[in-house]
Amino acid sequence: MSVQFIDNFSAQTTESKRQIIATQTGETDKILTTLEQSLPDDPAIRQRFESFSENNLGLYSLPMGVAPNFLINGKIYHIPMVTEESSVVAAASSSAKYWYSRGGFTSVVNGREKNGQVHFLSKAPQAWFDAAIRELGHRFTDELRPHVEAMEARGGGVKTWKIEHRPEVMPHYYRLDVTFGTADAMGANFINTCLEVMGRTLVAYTMEVNPDSDTCVVMAILSNFNPGSTVTASVSCPVDRMTTKGAEPRDFAERLVMATRIARCDIHRAATHNKGIMNGIDALMIATGNDFRAIEAGAHAWAARDGQYRGLTEARIEGDLFHFSLTLPLTLGTVGGLTSLHPVAGAVLQILGNPSAEELMQITAALGLAQNFTALRALTTLGIQKGHMRMHLGNILIGLNATRDEHDKVTEWFNNNTVSLAAVRAFIENLRQNGQ
Ligand code: MEV
Repeated sequence: MSVQFIDNFSAQTTESKRQIIATQTGETDKILTTLEQSLPDDPAIRQRFESFSENNLGLYSLPMGVAPNFLINGKIYHIPMVTEESSVVAAASSSAKYWYSRGGFTSVVNGREKNGQVHFLSKAPQAWFDAAIRELGHRFTDELRPHVEAMEARGGGVKTWKIEHRPEVMPHYYRLDVTFGTADAMGANFINTCLEVMGRTLVAYTMEVNPDSDTCVVMAILSNFNPGSTVTASVSCPVDRMTTKGAEPRDFAERLVMATRIARCDIHRAATHNKGIMNGIDALMIATGNDFRAIEAGAHAWAARDGQYRGLTEARIEGDLFHFSLTLPLTLGTVGGLTSLHPVAGAVLQILGNPSAEELMQITAALGLAQNFTALRALTTLGIQKGHMRMHLGNILIGLNATRDEHDKVTEWFNNNTVSLAAVRAFIENLRQNGQ
């Protein structure tokens, strides 16, 4: 059967949604079985997952590993990571081990301020808005009160606001810029609610006093660019302790400095460099039920904040000391949203010792730095493919339905030979035909 337009799909039950979609594939039974087998047995958990997103068909599983023994600010963490990329957990674990014996990671939160904007149009002049600040402030406070009480009790709330005329964007365009504290929550709904209330209040008051100003909101939404909510993770040790296979300690340290410099200056390298950092950060954000797209968007906007997209880490040698650090914004939460609803996210936070949002920022930045360290270590010494392809080999073998015996023979052979899908397939075919 070919793919057809489906009328009124969202009104169907979950079972019939599965049936309708499976019927259009031409392999109805196989697809239905796969989707049904993806569901958890417990009906309560099944229902909970269904409530997370619209038009639910099933569950898509990803492996969750753990990178043990991260020493961060003097405390040990075993960091759960959800990722499909085979080398990512191994890379984080290897970095954790390396730095454990060299003093561990230091991680410092530089600020926790989030922001959002009401983008609006008005023919009222900037001078009028400047003069109206006090009255607008009173009105904002009154209208926001029911929405901010709970957050204020937890130490958050609306912190500052200002109105900026930006006619260079378009005629009559203004921006109301608001900063927020959201305690241990990511706070997206809180911020967006406050911004919409402030937008309505601003339009009502401006039109009351300036009925001809045509004041209207274009949109009100949080920003994922949060330069006021950054964290810095760093490691440091004497250069002569920078031991590694394939390079002398000073040579290795100098190569790391060169690699970070290249990533800071060359966009081609910067994108890949930062992708490697986000390999770790996303894996932890997914495991803890955080919005990894928001974290990604924020990290890349930060990487481009001076107009050129740059690598996020820095390395330097000062005298006999090697320093390596990562600074990036992280707007994450440890309460509310999926962090509280996803059963596995709850377990992950427990494994991490139920951290506050601030502590999770510290852990996350250390993990990103660790990931980058292992990637650069491989890239600047033995090359990435040796370790990467060894991990990738496992996936190739699953794809080729290798037996345990074939697995062992292939692993032994490819210890000293270059891994590729074609080479592994040829090796296995040879084994299967000739038994050796
Ligand atoms: C692969 O997922 C990530 C790396 O390419 C990162 C890097 O090049 O720094 C290894």
